Amino acid sequence: MPRLVVVSNRVPVPSSQGSTATAGGLAIALEAALKSHGGLWFGWSGKTSGEREVEWLEIRDVGNVTYAVADLNRRDVEEYYAGFANRALWPLCHYRLDLTDFSRKDMAGYFRVNRSFARLLAPLLRKDDLIWIHDYHLIPLASELRHMGVKNRIGYFHHIPWPPVDVLAALPVYDTIMRGLAAYDLVGLQTDYDVENFEGCLLREGFGKPLGGNWYESYGHRFQVGNFPIGIDTGAFVKTAAEAVKNPTVKRTLQSLNGRDLVIGVDRLDYSKGIGQRIEAFSRFCEMSPSARGQTTFLQITPKSRSEVPEYADMQREIAELTGRVNGQLGDVDWVPIRYVNKAIGQRELAGLYRMSKAGLVTPLRDGMNLVAKEYVAAQDPENPGVLVLSRFAGAARELDGALIVNPYDTEATANAIGRAISMPLDARRERYNAMMPKLRKHDVANWCRSYLDCLASAPEMPKEHPAAAS
Ligand code: UDP
Ligand code: G6P
Repeated sequence: MPRLVVVSNRVPVPSSQGSTATAGGLAIALEAALKSHGGLWFGWSGKTSGEREVEWLEIRDVGNVTYAVADLNRRDVEEYYAGFANRALWPLCHYRLDLTDFSRKDMAGYFRVNRSFARLLAPLLRKDDLIWIHDYHLIPLASELRHMGVKNRIGYFHHIPWPPVDVLAALPVYDTIMRGLAAYDLVGLQTDYDVENFEGCLLREGFGKPLGGNWYESYGHRFQVGNFPIGIDTGAFVKTAAEAVKNPTVKRTLQSLNGRDLVIGVDRLDYSKGIGQRIEAFSRFCEMSPSARGQTTFLQITPKSRSEVPEYADMQREIAELTGRVNGQLGDVDWVPIRYVNKAIGQRELAGLYRMSKAGLVTPLRDGMNLVAKEYVAAQDPENPGVLVLSRFAGAARELDGALIVNPYDTEATANAIGRAISMPLDARRERYNAMMPKLRKHDVANWCRSYLDCLASAPEMPKEHPAAAS
């Protein structure tokens, strides 16, 4: 097997104590995938270093992984990360045209940082490396590497949804983005729906054509497009959850519930996650079920995310206000309906908290996959499992058909589903759990990694006349 070179904007370099505090599916999944595979992991250090240009890499070996990370200067972070990546591409791919901001300065910054990353990465590459680039921050990276003469196999995986053509076409540089993707040998998406949308973009806008099977031709280059639903490290998570009952935080939480039912939500504080709609649904559930009042606690774990982006800062305020209002209206002297936590919780504690919850609420308005949904199911006690309430708009809903599938925009229906989940008889809960676990075990993160890399490694040679090199 050739050396694997993984590239992502977010790189969770382990601290000197060997631990990383991460909230975000990409980092968690790649950490698990690279642990078994080994290789080089290249990307942003997450640090902002004054005004200096991107020109310096910190390289560190930890186990079988070499981490190579660069700081970005303030302008790069503003334009590339907080700007184009998270105010144009992220809202666009999550169907939120109302939240997009297409600043020309940010666009230029996005392409500039991708070029700088290519310059830093190219000297580290060996002839036979398999290069795997991740997520929307880095779409133009392959074409920059091609310009520099890199001929290796290069794959791209898009962790978030791929939008329909009419949404994508609102992006002023959508053709450059599509051209950037044509420089890869394999474009991986989360679900068959994303592949459908991607193909729609190629066909309707005349960027490319299907050649049969997974093959497409675009800008004179042949490449594959496929859905590779990302998974979790199911075996490890099952084990962690079973052991987590002994964890002090988990024990403390159980004690503090005083026999009440627990319902849990775990999300980065992001507008795509439908947290406001979920709180409204929980509040409606409490109003509709007087017997549940005082008897059910909703724990919403929500680490802050991308606070430098104005739309996130606004949303943080709105959710805090909403939680306060619901707690004020429904709460009592001895019961707070919603426990709202703004810090990141470690995977071990999360596993234990999922396991003690009667229902897991995963109700994004749009999500590429949503690993929390998979973790919640994997963490359950097979003898007494809780029930997953899952948005139809999460990629995970394509696989987790044992969940109660809801439309998160429909408050009443979501409230009803919460009630159904909490009062579901044991047999029905077991049946749902048993329907999902074999899929989670089979399609775990190692399988995701293997099937993607097998497909990338078996792609035929790149044609001599590469479109990026010719332009
Ligand atoms: N996560 C965590 N601690 C937290 C909140 C989330 O470790 O306090 C992890 C969670 O367990 C999951 C990931 O962050 O593995 C979130 O991935 P998901 O695909 O659900 O959403 P994303 O944040 O990538 O949009
Ligand atoms: C999602 C994205 C990732 C990103 C993560 C956390 O999972 O797909 O690319 O790393 O959110 O967001 P952040 O902006 O903190 O990296």
